[in-house]
Amino acid sequence: MARIVGMRLDAPTPSDRTTHVRRLFAGLPSTYDRMGAALSFGQDPRWRRAMVAKVDVEAGGLVLDVATGTGMVAREVVRRTGATVVGLDLTEDMLRGGVAETRAAGLDDTIRFVLGDGQRLPFADETFDALTFTYLLRYVDDPAGTLRELARVIKPGGSMANLEFHMPEPKPWRALWRLYTRVGLPAAGRVVSRSWFDVGRFLGPSISDFYDRHPLGEQLGMWRRAGIGDVRAHVMSLGGGVVIWGTKDG
Ligand SMILES: C[S@@+](CC[C@H](N)C(=O)[O-])C[C@H]1O[C@@H](n2cnc3c(N)ncnc32)[C@H](O)[C@@H]1O
Repeated sequence: MARIVGMRLDAPTPSDRTTHVRRLFAGLPSTYDRMGAALSFGQDPRWRRAMVAKVDVEAGGLVLDVATGTGMVAREVVRRTGATVVGLDLTEDMLRGGVAETRAAGLDDTIRFVLGDGQRLPFADETFDALTFTYLLRYVDDPAGTLRELARVIKPGGSMANLEFHMPEPKPWRALWRLYTRVGLPAAGRVVSRSWFDVGRFLGPSISDFYDRHPLGEQLGMWRRAGIGDVRAHVMSLGGGVVIWGTKDG
């Protein structure tokens, strides 16, 4: 099953943001999983596991993982829950990496990869028992509209869980985080490749701009307005990451 099945890149004119996302991630898949862990000092896999632990689904259920990239969350969901997963992403190269890694992990009968846009999902209302998304909302034109679109495809009572970078609250940590994301990340990326340098340069401003526009409290409000109830957040690693989860209203 682990092959790319969907083609949903037929929007009339992709926005500048969409074009930028595809360009940004095209050169990363072969090193993505290891680099993500290294650049976050081992925290990113821990955050991902914490997020997947919030996915409430039975074995045999159907989960959608949006912005699946190379499928790390999708594989973790399968291993932890026994559900079947559809992994959707905008960048074909990332999905090709996901197909290869999923085959290598022997999980290719449980994950289907779909090329598509999380802002316009190619699925009917209330298709999935649960939905996950990781590092997505900073890349979309309309985060509130995207949350409504994600909620649309979940069955009533189904869970939605998200992992995103965060901004530490205490001033000293915030200053260190800013320094690391603005200076450390691009410097480390430069050592690896041009693509990682571009990502390193992009990430710091992308994270802080997102929180300037949508502080955590406002994000939780957007979840509620999208029809997700019992919304909670767990800030991790001194504020470097945050897991948000909730349940679709019945
Ligand atoms: C930082 S990667 C995260 C990948 C994966 N979720 C993980 O945790 O490893 C962000 C991913 O979001 C995808 N993406 C960005 N905007 C998207 C959109 N509108 N719809 C679907 N995927 C999108 C990118 O192509 C990229 O693969």
